[in-house]
Amino acid sequence: EKGHFRHFMQKEIFEQPTVVAQTLRSYIRRVDQSVALPQFDFDLSQIRRVTIVACGTSYYAGLVAKYWFEQFARLPVDIDVASEFRYRDPVLEPGGLALFISQSGETADTLAALRHCKEHGQTIAVVVNVPTSSMAREADLLLPTHAGPEIGVASTKAFTCQLAVLAALAAHLAVKRGRMSREEERDLVDQLVETPAALNAALAHDDEIAAMAHLIAPARDVLYLGRGQDYPLALEGALKLKEISYIHAEGYASGEMKHGPIALIDEAVPVIVLAPSGPLFEKTVSNMQEVRARGGKVVLISDAEGLAEAGEGCLATIEMPKVHPLIAPLVYAVPVQLLAYHVACVKGTDVDQPRNLAKSVTVE
Ligand code: M6R
Repeated sequence: EKGHFRHFMQKEIFEQPTVVAQTLRSYIRRVDQSVALPQFDFDLSQIRRVTIVACGTSYYAGLVAKYWFEQFARLPVDIDVASEFRYRDPVLEPGGLALFISQSGETADTLAALRHCKEHGQTIAVVVNVPTSSMAREADLLLPTHAGPEIGVASTKAFTCQLAVLAALAAHLAVKRGRMSREEERDLVDQLVETPAALNAALAHDDEIAAMAHLIAPARDVLYLGRGQDYPLALEGALKLKEISYIHAEGYASGEMKHGPIALIDEAVPVIVLAPSGPLFEKTVSNMQEVRARGGKVVLISDAEGLAEAGEGCLATIEMPKVHPLIAPLVYAVPVQLLAYHVACVKGTDVDQPRNLAKSVTVE
């Protein structure tokens, strides 16, 4: 039931602090402040490469994980959308690990890719929300998300729960591969435990984002920009907006904008920039200046430090709490979900059942 919420999607966005905490609880051992995975007889310290396959929003969770596995665990990652992966005859070394991410556990393209990998001698790990699904049954290593049933066609809480599991997995791989000390692990666990509070801080901007939605709703096209692990969030923001408001939106890596999409910029194209402060923030600031110089309107989503560094001149800003890079994508998912949701409400579209879309895509 929706309770006091207008839509399932809205309810599911607001459930995130609870379900992310629920999910993290099964991957964190509080006694010794360590990250723990379910038992399985495959030595994760020995893998040389991981192949990640998924569709839609679940694929974007995988893209974030690619940044994490490479940065924190120094583990090479190959990633693709399932519909492409299967038919490009990918090179799968014997003894490799293949990781599938899915809310439903029934997506036809992902399931077919899983079976293909199994036939080619890969160990199968799945991050899945429905524990009785085909993917859960066919996995060697089941990494469940505990998001509870997701009714809204646009995925929200399943995504942040997937990210929570993938963050724990990244930390676990980093420890196993000798790239993270016990002290760093304990420190990270402390921060993971704080994630629900950070999600609540992000949700507190709901009214502000609802007001901002009136500025975005008249647009025909919207660009989302992000860099590094926030680039997949830009893709996710654009997908959410397309799915439920039917506004054309595209996500781009901030640095790619000058290689083409900048030609689209004028005063009618809002540009949503997702950029926590950090070493590369000044590059993002110059990307924003390029947009503004062409009359473009920037909505900047950053932390206090980033907003201060960016200075004046944005159409609007949303302040996120400052968090560890393994938590930031979960936190930044909230404003992009809320923005898509409120824009759809302004436009009066069917938020929970958008046209042409099904919750679970069980055909190829
Ligand atoms: O159940 P799955 O996670 O495998 O579904 C994958 C996609 O179909 C799904 O994420 C889709 O893109 C959503 N509508 C996104 O909001």
